[in-house]
Amino acid sequence: MDSNPLTKKLILKTASSESEIYFGRGTLLKAGLLCGTRFRGRRVHIVSDTNVAPLYLSQVSMLFEENGFTVTSTVLPAGETSKTLDSVHALYEDFVSTTLTRADLVVALGGGVIGDTTGFAAATYLRGINLCQIPTTLLAQVDSSVGGKCGVDLKSGKNLVGAFYQPHMVLIDPDMLNSLPEHIFNDGMAEVIKYGFIADKSILEKLESNLDNDMISDVILRSVEIKRDIVMQDERDTSIRMILNFGHTIGHALEKLGGFHALSHGQAVALGMKAALQLGILLGITEKSTIPQLNNLLDRFELNQEITYSAPSIADALLNDKKILSSTISFILIKTPGEAFIHNLSLLSLRQLIVEVLK
Ligand code: GLY
Repeated sequence: MDSNPLTKKLILKTASSESEIYFGRGTLLKAGLLCGTRFRGRRVHIVSDTNVAPLYLSQVSMLFEENGFTVTSTVLPAGETSKTLDSVHALYEDFVSTTLTRADLVVALGGGVIGDTTGFAAATYLRGINLCQIPTTLLAQVDSSVGGKCGVDLKSGKNLVGAFYQPHMVLIDPDMLNSLPEHIFNDGMAEVIKYGFIADKSILEKLESNLDNDMISDVILRSVEIKRDIVMQDERDTSIRMILNFGHTIGHALEKLGGFHALSHGQAVALGMKAALQLGILLGITEKSTIPQLNNLLDRFELNQEITYSAPSIADALLNDKKILSSTISFILIKTPGEAFIHNLSLLSLRQLIVEVLK
């Protein structure tokens, strides 16, 4: 396998787990073979959604069947409304009715919602069953499928229930992105741009040039490597992993103000990164040239929009977040492209800075 130049294997090792990440064009076609070699059980339950299943479910089922697996599946309605405990419960029932054991395998075939929901069901069913993530969106390929964060939303907020559960295997095939609508692809680009700003400015240089398919593969792989390296240092998100939240603190407030449908995650993160750079400039920490650089990239991927909410309402949405448990917040700032750090701010200073930056 490793002699195939199109497939690269990365290992994400933590104190209690080892996640094998296979990356490259055509990797999907090896799904049955790779899982057949790694997993003892011969049952696989694939979870997908109504957008992805018509494109890939029969093909992926066949790839597993050809390698001796008995395949069953659940198809959830596409969209954030499926990221609930009700969906997790429905998955448990399907796992039980197909007599899935801990030796068997659950496959998440889809974007972030499917990956997060299925990941949480896999983490908790029988106290943990084998899990393979096959991410089908750019956002899921570079972020949510790697690193083990999984969970669901409650009525009172997003991602309020969840776990850290490393997938045993992740299969990332950039060819699967060819079926994506352009705006969904662009949405994922916000996260790729994030990796450039927090850890590797060469990603930004690539995105600024004439991007072809090979370069897109390169920036995805580099993003996954960065995430793998960060998660290996801090799986539980208590220190360096927080830098992955660059642009997300204000981005999340914007998503919340739009009822989680006015702005996509990528659009919100894009605007959140811009605000975070402006905030860093106001504090005298961030280089001023980062703003035109980010603007140029956001224009390129149609992620540069006006913020339509008032600065005080954004500050309120951010500071009323149920996940804020203390009087300070770890805010991610950039010094120069490729160099991020955690800056602790009191909630009061953050409010004042947001109002100043977004006025
Ligand atoms: N999506 C950010 C993280 O996995 O920590």
